[in-house]
Amino acid sequence: MSCATESHAYVIFGATGNLATVKLLPALYQLHCLGYLAADVKILGCGRTPHQRDDWRDQVRKMLASGTNAGSCLEGFFQRLDYLAGSLEDAAFYQALGTWIGTGECARNVIFYLSVSPELYVRVTMGLAQAGLLAERNGWRRMVVEKPFGHDLQSARDLQHELKAHLSEEQIYRIDHYVGKESVQNLLVLRFANMILEPLWNRHYIDHVQITHAETVGVDGRASYYDRHGGAARDMIQSHLLQVLALLAMEPPVSLEAESLRDEKVKVLRSIRPVDVSQLASHAVRAQYAGYQMEAGIAPGSHTETYAALKLYVDNWRWRDVPFYLRTGKSLKERRSMVAVRFREPPMQLFQGTGAAIVHPNWLLIGIQPDDVVQMEISAKVPGAETRTRQIVMDASVGNPGERKADAYEELLLDVIEGNRALFLRYDEVKAAWSIVDPVMRAWADDEHPPLQYPVGSLGPKAANQIFDQADQEWRQTLGCNGKADGKS
Ligand code: BG6
Repeated sequence: MSCATESHAYVIFGATGNLATVKLLPALYQLHCLGYLAADVKILGCGRTPHQRDDWRDQVRKMLASGTNAGSCLEGFFQRLDYLAGSLEDAAFYQALGTWIGTGECARNVIFYLSVSPELYVRVTMGLAQAGLLAERNGWRRMVVEKPFGHDLQSARDLQHELKAHLSEEQIYRIDHYVGKESVQNLLVLRFANMILEPLWNRHYIDHVQITHAETVGVDGRASYYDRHGGAARDMIQSHLLQVLALLAMEPPVSLEAESLRDEKVKVLRSIRPVDVSQLASHAVRAQYAGYQMEAGIAPGSHTETYAALKLYVDNWRWRDVPFYLRTGKSLKERRSMVAVRFREPPMQLFQGTGAAIVHPNWLLIGIQPDDVVQMEISAKVPGAETRTRQIVMDASVGNPGERKADAYEELLLDVIEGNRALFLRYDEVKAAWSIVDPVMRAWADDEHPPLQYPVGSLGPKAANQIFDQADQEWRQTLGCNGKADGKS
């Protein structure tokens, strides 16, 4: 029997939505151009908009042509695109999808990508299951589930329960695009492909760690969704920043194989000391940018935070009592994500009594975006007869000029095709992450005081400093800058 069908297909639910348009289709397009997609791979967009295939192709064409990545491979890419209109509530839609996918020996391997509102995740899964489209009779079926996986611990449990009724854990790909960023994956390489860090990577040498994700944009375009389902702790800390923390703090995995990596990450997340909500002000800060309440789609008097800072401790042998400070915010002064590791001071201030009364601690700074850099701040002698010191920066850009940085989604979408789940979250990771932020979110929800306010374009609320344990700890606002600080008091 000959099957005029494809070896696998990407089915995108919510194909006309923002994520599909801005991230998924451009990523698939890049994979196509770079030759990663087999000749017979098809991409099916599913949406409510009653497009014909050619309308959708035109729409995608316009979108890609307006991007910087438009190239000569456009035509070949369009041949891969197909469109199926319908309501995700409607059983007939799943029948039509089944016909498109094919049956029996001609069934394809299929990736279903849930790029729809989280409220629809269960509905779509059930629709697919009832139409028999999740069963792996001939070929595999994989489901990519976008974050948020639930909106708190209980809803994550409920969602998991529903998904597990129809899918095995091996079929579920819980995506956290932050982990797909090259600069985030570089954390693993920095830690485990070098020997110089590991001996210092513990409570004996590290004073504290800061993880920052700052954005200049507000919530435009998704205000009402963010107001109802977001908040900085839920939107960024529970997922992206805790993943960064886990990669920074975990023990060396046995291998880079998915279960080894995820075993280590989950161990770190489970070791995090529960936040003491009776002392919340010294552990967590929430704030809202001025003007948030005036934006269309925001509920009057909303307490949703657009900025959150959180102090966490990893209670294990390596990290006991080393604070990890996490912060994230929208409408801030600068777009910058980075990790800043401050080392302890030398056991003796040998230079006391000289011109260099203060010797600053060392910092390791890892830029995540926009600068993909690794810097080490160390003290050095200022040339001259006097003994004075200043901080100098050993500064290295990770990429070489002309090297192309892949978008996070490119790598992750390819991993799904290849069945590599290492960068996707296992359910126990998600659950552990919710257990960390849930008590904080609940305490905030019970607090009748409105969040603090910070001006648009600022560094965030001043009160974010109140979570530091020591008077000499403060937020790093920038990457290193050579010769900036003179060690002379
Ligand atoms: C998303 C959040 O997951 O990550 C957004 O929902 C946030 O609110 C975004 O802006 C940040 O990721 P990136 O890759 O755009 O920096």
